[in-house]
Amino acid sequence: MPDSTPLQASVALHTGRITGEISPLLFGGFAEHMGRCIYEGIYDPASPLADARGLRTDVMAALKETNYRIMRYPGGNFVSGYRWTDGIGPKASRPRRRALAWRSIETNQFGPHEFMEFAEELGTEAMWAVNLGTGSIQDAADLVEYMNLPTGTLYSDLRASNGRSKPYGVKYWCLGNEMDGPWQIGQMDAHAYADKAVQAAKLMRWMDPGIKTIACGSSATAMPGYPEWDMTVLSHAYEQIDYFSMHHYAANPYPTVSNTDGLARDTDSYLASSLHFDEHADTLAAAIRVAKAKNRSKRDVFLCWDEWNVWYRAKGGDGEWSEAPHILEEVYNLEDALVVATWLNTFLRKSDVVKIACIAQIVNVIAPIMTRRDGMFRQTIFYPLTLFSRHASGVALDPLVSAPLQPTARYGDVSMLDVSASFDGATGEGATFLVNRSQTRPLRVTLSWEDDAPQALTGAWQMSGPDPLAENSFEMPDAVTAVPITPPVIEGRQVSLTVPPLSFTTLIAQHAPR
Ligand code: AHR
Repeated sequence: MPDSTPLQASVALHTGRITGEISPLLFGGFAEHMGRCIYEGIYDPASPLADARGLRTDVMAALKETNYRIMRYPGGNFVSGYRWTDGIGPKASRPRRRALAWRSIETNQFGPHEFMEFAEELGTEAMWAVNLGTGSIQDAADLVEYMNLPTGTLYSDLRASNGRSKPYGVKYWCLGNEMDGPWQIGQMDAHAYADKAVQAAKLMRWMDPGIKTIACGSSATAMPGYPEWDMTVLSHAYEQIDYFSMHHYAANPYPTVSNTDGLARDTDSYLASSLHFDEHADTLAAAIRVAKAKNRSKRDVFLCWDEWNVWYRAKGGDGEWSEAPHILEEVYNLEDALVVATWLNTFLRKSDVVKIACIAQIVNVIAPIMTRRDGMFRQTIFYPLTLFSRHASGVALDPLVSAPLQPTARYGDVSMLDVSASFDGATGEGATFLVNRSQTRPLRVTLSWEDDAPQALTGAWQMSGPDPLAENSFEMPDAVTAVPITPPVIEGRQVSLTVPPLSFTTLIAQHAPR
């Protein structure tokens, strides 16, 4: 029998000890034309749950719950072969094409106008990726003209003739996707990519000087070119970009989606993945600093973690030339939700440099929501994402954490407790996010406030369970959720609570308004 006596841990917060301002765009999503993300996920006119536009009303309600602030679209690998003009005009005359990235059929029944209507209804910023694979820099500039210019030119007038006279004003633009990967349509080396990205960004900005651009970083830390690709692109493109993209998918066992076959699961190391996430952000933040110095620049470039999630089981990406194939339909469990929670902790810890993040993806394809034609359920990872998105705001605090160490094969001894915290001076709300990584030991946590103690804890939620592999399904949609718990009572300047093994706890504190 493992020892289940609680071990002691402490967390001290000070509202003046901060790591950075929390960008609301950290709580973003990604909708790619692949598998059943768009078709049969977001858009499914054949579903009894669709509205007159074909949008799934149940999915829209769940997406609103998550409170996404930015949505990346339309890919992903898909974008590197996408002709955006296929997706405009009357639906009946839009072409069917082979989408080479995922060996699928693209019907183009959902395109730029449908996506913008979707994003506007969610109240989220759009983040468009342009095709720098088969697409030219002129195609990229034409798309900016179509989306953002007032009428009076060829493409803006075309937009108006397709039903939208007011410009969409899309601000965030990704310059291609994962251009270092051999799987990418139009893969390039770092110098060729940097040249094309600089020229595309230049034309796109000439079209609309208000846009923000995001250059591709390495597709993964496991890429042989990492971090050399990043240094090259950053040094060359620094003055033409506002953000630099990073991608990573976590797996049990480590490290990547492509090479876990035959390796033994290692949950202790997996639950310590945030050490890898922190190091990834630190490395690229350092690369940005060096590129800034090399360019003698006065501007700052920030990190855009525009693909992140757990992904290692549903690996096959072959759509066998069908519409809406069931690919990458990963089913998430408790340990995945805990890793997602620690990843969100990383975003808060690195909030001085990470300013945009998009979970990949939002529906069906490695996603927090799974649908079938007559219903949907929330996966385990839905809960940490939604709790952070709804409660982390203002500034990220730098917590002083003292907790027992536990050994891991991959990272050595790591703290059993992974923590982040936020404080919003405008509302007086503070949030603390605690992950107990131990599979066996509860932790008795003393949480104290060194300066401005809250008046009360006003909310608390917890996800936990004995089985790290427990998951939700259509049959048991609520097997693993974040359940409300009674918030501990403040005594003096502190509270104490016991967090079970394998758990994620969110505590909401209300301070006096400032
Ligand atoms: O999110 C799934 C895929 O993963 C994206 O299309 C690609 O950019 C990444 O390799």
